[in-house]
Amino acid sequence: MIDRAHLADLLDRERRAFRDRNPRSAAAYEQARAHLFGGVPMTWMNKTAAGFPLYLAEARGARVTDLDGHSYVDLCLGDTGAMAGHSPQATVDAVADRFGGRGGATVMMPTEDATWVGAELGRRFGVPYWSFSLTATDANRWAIRLARAITGRPKILVNSYCYHGSVDEVLLVVGPDGEQVSREGNVGAPVDPTVTSRVVEFNDLPSLERELAHGDVAAVLMEPALTNIGIVLPEPGYLDGVRELTRRYGTLLINDETHTFSAGPGGCTGAWGLDPDIVTIGKAVGGGIPSGGYGLSAEVAARVEGMSGLDLVDMGGVGGTLAGNALSVAAMRATLEHVLTDDAFTAMTELATRFTKGVREVIDEHALPWSVTQLGARAEYRFSDPAPRDGGESNAAGDPDLDDYLHVYLANRGVLLTPFHNMALMCPATTEADVDRHHEVFAAAVAELAG
Ligand SMILES: Cc1ncc(COP(=O)(O)O)c(C=O)c1O
Repeated sequence: MIDRAHLADLLDRERRAFRDRNPRSAAAYEQARAHLFGGVPMTWMNKTAAGFPLYLAEARGARVTDLDGHSYVDLCLGDTGAMAGHSPQATVDAVADRFGGRGGATVMMPTEDATWVGAELGRRFGVPYWSFSLTATDANRWAIRLARAITGRPKILVNSYCYHGSVDEVLLVVGPDGEQVSREGNVGAPVDPTVTSRVVEFNDLPSLERELAHGDVAAVLMEPALTNIGIVLPEPGYLDGVRELTRRYGTLLINDETHTFSAGPGGCTGAWGLDPDIVTIGKAVGGGIPSGGYGLSAEVAARVEGMSGLDLVDMGGVGGTLAGNALSVAAMRATLEHVLTDDAFTAMTELATRFTKGVREVIDEHALPWSVTQLGARAEYRFSDPAPRDGGESNAAGDPDLDDYLHVYLANRGVLLTPFHNMALMCPATTEADVDRHHEVFAAAVAELAG
């Protein structure tokens, strides 16, 4: 359907326009190359459709401004880290009060905010006992250690093309012939991940049962809907089947709600009435201040506490000096209490529905074999129709040139999508006009492509 030569010409034109439009970002990137590994503060910032990243000047709510003075409708929102909006006022105030007013971030003393956050996360996600981290990666690492400790089993099972952070146990996929293999590009794996893990496709209960029947899986670590290879929704009955099988085979179920938090105040767990043993979360929960955590069911907490010989206080492999620090929990409290409220999710979801509808209209107008999928406050377009039903299918539907074209075209006209995929996320400050601006530009990009 797509004329590849025409696409290449358009992409080339947009990249040149991007370079012309952003001289200060280009110069800043050039200077950084002398001092930063890869020229960026973190190597993933080289994931840019245009050849160099935009440099941040300011961000507030659903808007960011770059170093060259352009203002953007930000539908990327830090790939979910800013789902509360950039610098939401309640979080700013709480952080200023904690750090500047009363003082203290890293003091090795608990604060009462943490108890409030644990109670609120328990209300939302259904698991009562919480412990905090600064990233979702760490929350997952520590949760799977606890799962291995109490089950006495060595392996973790994940879904193909999942992402749960830079966690050794999750970097494997189902290969073309159904074999389980290390993910391409896996950097310095301590052992082949098939030693520590099993992997199956999402929405595939027979394969899940086959793998669990080995009796060596401590926990299934999963997102209730995949979000890192495009959004892949669970088919009817799938999540019930996962819960039933994990119980039958004595395997714990960990729901990673870091991205699926978009589904509602309690993520998919709350929205769909799920009953996991452990919930992990990170990113948005602190309104932009590094925060995360894992929540344990009463039964899991009791099993951990009933074990002797686990060092949960010092060097046993669970914890971090800065985890649960006063600043981080103050940010979580303010964000949950005043920003990512139940009402905010209602409004964000309505906007994502508007986004989804508008994208579908453009796809239909040009009869493109594309699809768009919504998960609460987030939505994403994919270059396949029907929408992929598992990670392997979604990976196969990828089209990097088309991704790059749309990303640069949108950026050149003041709209940012998350660089890793075609995902758009709504925050409490996003407006209908922001969504409509995306449609206007998206429709123009598609019309040029189709023309
Ligand atoms: C579902 C999920 N879990 C965990 C993580 C890791 O988050 P972080 O990089 O903030 O540790 C991510 C990051 O994208 C994620 O999407």
